[in-house]
Amino acid sequence: MISKTTIDKVYQSTKVEEVVGDFVSLKKSGSNFKGLSPFSNEKTPSFMVSPAKQIWKDFSSGKGGNSVAFLMEHEKFSYPEAIRYLAKKYNIEIEEVITDTKDKELASRRESMYLVVEDASKFYRENLNSELEGISVGKSYLTERGFNDSSIDKFELGFSFNKKNAYYLHATKNGFSDEYIERVGLAIFDKGNIIDRFRSRIIFPIKNFSGRVVGFGGRIISEQKKVPKYINSIESEIYNKSKILYGLFESKSDIVKNDLCYLVEGYTDVIQMHQSGIKNVVSSSGTALTYNQILLIKRVTNNIVVLFDGDEAGLKASERGIEMILEMGMDVKVCQFPESEDPDNFVKKRSKDDVLDFFKKNSLDFIRFKADKLIKKYGDDPSKKSKTINDIVKIISKISDPIKVEVYINECSKVMNISTQVLFSSLSQIKNKFKIISKKSENFLINTNDKESSTKKESENFELEYQIIKILLLYGDFEENFNETIINKKQDGKLDEEKIVIKTKVYEKIFLDLQEDEIEFTDENFKKLYQVLIENFQTNDKVTYDVIVNNLSPELSGLVSEILMVDEIYKLHKWDSKSIFVKEKSSSIEQMVTETILSLRKILIDKKISDLQNKLNKLDENESILSEVISYQKLKKVLAEKLNRVI
Ligand code: CTP
Ligand code: MN
Repeated sequence: MISKTTIDKVYQSTKVEEVVGDFVSLKKSGSNFKGLSPFSNEKTPSFMVSPAKQIWKDFSSGKGGNSVAFLMEHEKFSYPEAIRYLAKKYNIEIEEVITDTKDKELASRRESMYLVVEDASKFYRENLNSELEGISVGKSYLTERGFNDSSIDKFELGFSFNKKNAYYLHATKNGFSDEYIERVGLAIFDKGNIIDRFRSRIIFPIKNFSGRVVGFGGRIISEQKKVPKYINSIESEIYNKSKILYGLFESKSDIVKNDLCYLVEGYTDVIQMHQSGIKNVVSSSGTALTYNQILLIKRVTNNIVVLFDGDEAGLKASERGIEMILEMGMDVKVCQFPESEDPDNFVKKRSKDDVLDFFKKNSLDFIRFKADKLIKKYGDDPSKKSKTINDIVKIISKISDPIKVEVYINECSKVMNISTQVLFSSLSQIKNKFKIISKKSENFLINTNDKESSTKKESENFELEYQIIKILLLYGDFEENFNETIINKKQDGKLDEEKIVIKTKVYEKIFLDLQEDEIEFTDENFKKLYQVLIENFQTNDKVTYDVIVNNLSPELSGLVSEILMVDEIYKLHKWDSKSIFVKEKSSSIEQMVTETILSLRKILIDKKISDLQNKLNKLDENESILSEVISYQKLKKVLAEKLNRVI
């Protein structure tokens, strides 16, 4: 776990305009920056960044928040991944808090391993780019294969010398210990004999989701028999093959943008496709797809197109993968290349548009793909045909989205020329096996009527709590005149209502009123945000947006961004210059505050009444409760009158 001090340091150094600026080209626009939304393919800017408030807002998708929220949205980082990324960007050393010493050891061991691999990656790169052997052997090989310098740079390709242990000597000279070099498998220690794993190979660094190098693939320069074409780093505490996809780090923002991921087999396929301008592509590096790899893709999109080489082997390998993708509720299409072509050489010979056109025309949904294949295999034999159909329905039964199921059943009916009725009944037979299990869990559900009415109340509460937060954020430090009623006890013991006007800050009014009624927020997010805001007002007497926003969770920061930036959209579209009148929002702050608080009170009282009534039903005597209910009901009437007056 990352320590609180580290997180604080990260937030203190982080500037949202710099973080976003690494991914979006921003132009100054008044006190803000604007740019094209990185979440859609738009032509006029609807993306804003406010340095003063330390937030961003994307009006085309509705997303917004602080720096961390941006990284989580754009790079699909988890919270700790985003913090680590920022720490690296701003050169902040990460302090880990780990109570368990075993975990602590693992964390520091992994960190040491990352450092070894990072250094090795640099070494291989320099070999390729500035050493004679690297340039004449490695670089010329890559150039000949059609990789340009910017691809070589982007994928940080390298070269290992044709020497026994050039890397090992380099690493020890740089102070790396045998233990870690062995752990990452970059040298093989054999009875005092030390040999580099990669010798005379092109080096492809393999990065994890957040961009750290975890291992390498190495390709031989000249075809030789008995030597494997590729060798890869050994699996280690930082490199788990089944949880890595080659190219994901470089491709993920384009995958998000296109909401589509191409899946290819090899390192060179990924690089060549990038070079041709198709940048939403990852490779499973020649191994069968795993659940963990699919989960990685699911973080960035729900749509996969599997591209495989025009040979039987490629086809077989992808079949199980396709089923797994479907099972995980994702959409998958399949595209086969012509005989003896792979994406690498196919793409090289064509323009980007031609390639995309080919993909479009040759992508089959899985039913057609599967049906085509099985028909090829079994021909028209009726008993084989029924097995084919059963196989397909079995796959469909694993899809949980009923709409997709229907689409696929219809498709299958067309392709296999069999009625949907028969298909549905065979589907339900397969599904019945699981029904009994899911029936059991239904019993735990409470009465749906109860649920409905409570959701209605919840949403009412939600609206009001949202309103309170909005008022605090926008007008918390405004001073307003509020009408208050003071109740005095007169000398004769009677009560006397006195109406006065009190000038006070909005946040104080809200705080005191809610406290008086002991009103607690029901929504956890609003509750937290409310505490942060009140604390901020109490120490600074005004709202300091940048401080607040940078200390919020990404989720909460998104909420704040939504509230604060909503008016910016008018500026963005220059409505004022087109003389479209935007309503003056602060015309009746007092009214808004009073109305909201009264409404919250009303809900509170409703709840008290119904609680008491429930109690009454159970005890069916207890007069004191009854009188309490009556007095609350009176109060409710008074409130209703007041509310009407306000409105
Ligand atoms: N692969 C591997 N070990 C091998 C062969 C292949 O790990 N001995 C992996 C590599 O990740 C490779 C992928 O499987 O990129 C696909 O294999 P292949 O199609 O044979 O390689 P290409 O990527 O086409 O390589 P090249 O174009 O350089 O021949
Ligand atoms: Mn290939």
